[in-house]
Amino acid sequence: MNTAPPAAAPAAGHLEIAPGVLYFGTPVVLVSTENEDGTFNLAPISSAWALGRTVVLGLGREGQTARNLGSRPGLVLSLPGPGLWPAVERLAPLTGRDPVPPGKPADCRYEPDKFGAAGLTAVPSRSVRPPRVAECPFQMEARAERVRPDVSGDFVLVETVVSAVHADPRIVVPGTGHIDPAAWSPLVYNFRHYFGLGPELGQSYRTQTPRDA
Ligand SMILES: Cc1cc2nc3c(=O)[nH]c(=O)nc-3n(C[C@H](O)[C@H](O)[C@H](O)COP(=O)(O)O)c2cc1C
Repeated sequence: MNTAPPAAAPAAGHLEIAPGVLYFGTPVVLVSTENEDGTFNLAPISSAWALGRTVVLGLGREGQTARNLGSRPGLVLSLPGPGLWPAVERLAPLTGRDPVPPGKPADCRYEPDKFGAAGLTAVPSRSVRPPRVAECPFQMEARAERVRPDVSGDFVLVETVVSAVHADPRIVVPGTGHIDPAAWSPLVYNFRHYFGLGPELGQSYRTQTPRDA
């Protein structure tokens, strides 16, 4: 029988609330896509998750990124570290779509050169046309294999399949293909505020990262 006391007393009762957003803390991803004229767009998102080699994205239906992926499937997912949050925030009020669609916030404006506006550097990719973001330590080249509306009709769900992964050597366990979780830290979008990771708490029994390398 477990006689240990609980680590913390349970809360007296949860409040049932109606928050304006449900962005409960997911990494920021910068998505590079190709515009109609062969130039490139760059947009921050946080609705992204990985399942094997598939990464699923949630995108506003009216944005240039969704529009591009519906016609030109190549993309790059570049993950910024915590120090890049000001560059991400410089991208926040910009769209690559001209004219600005009516559903965008009132202060949203068209910007054809998002890399320049954010102060970020485009570097060529190996397997797709859109460029990677040089300043991001972790980058995935991918192809949108399925683009479909979500249940609300306001968003599209994009299933992408990763074709190449690039990592800054400083976040790779030397001599291996493993990301060092102690060296890599994503930029986390937590209810519209930016955070980094805290210290490591533990590890999954399924980890394959060689810790003593
Ligand atoms: C940190 C952050 C996270 C965001 N997450 C998403 C997201 O998950 N999906 C989305 O469609 N837009 C997201 N946005 C908003 C888009 O970046 C914004 O709508 C932008 O104008 C899209 O650019 P585009 O029209 O050129 O594609 C996010 C913005 C920021 C700053």
